Amino acid sequence: MITFALSKGRLANKIFQLLQNMNINVSDFKETSRKLIFISDDQKYRFFLAKPSDVPTYVDYGIADVGVVGKDTILTISEEKHNFSEVLDLSFGKCKMCVCGFHDAKNILNSGNIIRVATKYPNIAKKYFEKTNRNVEIIKLNGSVELGPLVGLSDVIVDIVESGKTLKENGLEILEEVDNISARLIINNASLKIKYQEINELINGFNQLLGDNDD
Ligand code: PRP
Repeated sequence: MITFALSKGRLANKIFQLLQNMNINVSDFKETSRKLIFISDDQKYRFFLAKPSDVPTYVDYGIADVGVVGKDTILTISEEKHNFSEVLDLSFGKCKMCVCGFHDAKNILNSGNIIRVATKYPNIAKKYFEKTNRNVEIIKLNGSVELGPLVGLSDVIVDIVESGKTLKENGLEILEEVDNISARLIINNASLKIKYQEINELINGFNQLLGDNDD
């Protein structure tokens, strides 16, 4: 059996749709269900729904062979060596990691002064501003990051922009683009060797579907 750790929510729903197109059906999965573990109808695959930031941990420890998780989560975890490999960009769950703020904050970004940055992604923000040679004070927030500039906690934020609705409704805008984000398939390194054939079939199946979508 191949075990998947899935980020619960939109990514999990999307992956179940893709699997259905590969004739892997999971009849007992319902979007509204609170159940955490599902088995495919053919009994060949097991799926569990985890908090996105925990998916790499399950795959790292080999509890799951395969993980589906956003690139933002992969970038967020520490740089220590991991027992998993990122094998495929699944091309869904697309969004951008951006520096955002009020229009005028552009001046602060280019002023040479220390920039106060609120973010859920301190590692990503730190690396980006180091790379672009700017001094920052990073303030870690856990959600509703857009509040940072609105209430004067920070000059800018580093956050995910998907539709742009949250920025727009709060009078903020994208000032700089940091990275493109999408869902990635990660595989435990030992599983890649031990279950080579089954996992290769899966990767080929996904590749085929992604190719079809490009047409
Ligand atoms: C994310 C992100 C932005 C928003 C972007 O937050 O941190 O706030 O979605 O989406 P949009 O461009 O489509 O508006 P999330 O909804 O995960 O909630 P959070 O702020 O509590 O982390």
